[in-house]
Amino acid sequence: MAKTPMGTVIVAPNVFWVGVKDPSRRLFDGLIPLPHGTSYNAYLVIGSEKTALIDTVNPGFENELVDKISQHTDSAKIDYVVMNHAEPDHANACSYMLSLAKDAKLVTSAKGKEAAMMYFDVPDERIIVVDESSSIDLGGKTLKFVDAPWLHWPETIFTYIPEDRVLFPCDFFGSHVAYGEFYADEFGNGHTLELAKLYFAEIMMPFRNPSMKAIEKVKALDPKIIAPSHGVMYREPKLIIDAYTDWAGAKMKKKVLIAYVSMWGRTERMVRILKESLIHKGIEVQAFDLTATGIGEVAKQLVDSPVLVIGAPTVLGGAHPVGAYATLLTKALRAPTKYAAILSSHGWSGGAVKQLSGLLEGTKIEVLDVVDVKGPANDEEIQRVLKLADTIEGKLAEL
Ligand code: FEO
Repeated sequence: MAKTPMGTVIVAPNVFWVGVKDPSRRLFDGLIPLPHGTSYNAYLVIGSEKTALIDTVNPGFENELVDKISQHTDSAKIDYVVMNHAEPDHANACSYMLSLAKDAKLVTSAKGKEAAMMYFDVPDERIIVVDESSSIDLGGKTLKFVDAPWLHWPETIFTYIPEDRVLFPCDFFGSHVAYGEFYADEFGNGHTLELAKLYFAEIMMPFRNPSMKAIEKVKALDPKIIAPSHGVMYREPKLIIDAYTDWAGAKMKKKVLIAYVSMWGRTERMVRILKESLIHKGIEVQAFDLTATGIGEVAKQLVDSPVLVIGAPTVLGGAHPVGAYATLLTKALRAPTKYAAILSSHGWSGGAVKQLSGLLEGTKIEVLDVVDVKGPANDEEIQRVLKLADTIEGKLAEL
């Protein structure tokens, strides 16, 4: 890695990573656990005539951004601030940077312009709207743009420097990690892909069709370096492009995801019997006790699990809230799940199954079976769980 003595990173000649790492952040969007923190990657591009800043940083890190930029130029000399995406972790500091660089223009899409004016009070006359026909000449370096709507907001664009073949896709291809390494190959490709898959599940999985369109555009560009706005960069882009092709294309594995919660062991016993039967059949099973596993792990497994089994008892007349949350998340993330089953138990009255089934309405998920037992499962009910394993085996064989 070509790191400068001042903590910035040389991405290409006169292209620098000037972002910040945020290892202490533990939650994103009030929803997504960040076990490894995150980073807000901003990039400085210095041409022979003009200078551009591509994306900025999360609120509270403006001074660190300016300090990094100052290693290479004065922030007042920036000519363009490119806003690929209007979410505040990248865009909130745009107006601050424009206040330092009095003559600079904000460069964004038409929808990005609406967002910049609405959220960040950027005046109309300081905004340049770009699309795929646009280019900005910095002198020896050109900024080109890729329309990438709904990745993951409607205004999103990517920025590309053809001379250096560096792509800046903002959130796309991102990962939430704040370790010291800057490139995927330094970090370990396998571990990087696990983090990238977690990120894809939580951010991009609901937008698989726009993702596929964007992947084709990226392949056509044939970038040498992919520099996202979270986590590591890729100087072997095929690694992340191929992974995204599988994930966005819903390439399924023959595996079963079981997400369960149990109060007194009745539901857990059925989960265990189902799991052991599936494993005996040679089927991969990923089973998670939701009280001991972050919801991110469940989201990550949803990317390539064709079968989801929810285990949740009735409590207070409805589904255990933890089980309901996992079911709701599956729906919200528009997981490519094909089949589901529900295992549930109750004492004096049911209610969980009705609620969980209702949460799956409106999806394309086919519910294979529901086993709802009063008290401990009896022999007949155990046989039903075993029959569910046979049914799942048959469905997986058809894939
Ligand atoms: Fe990293 Fe959608 O913001």
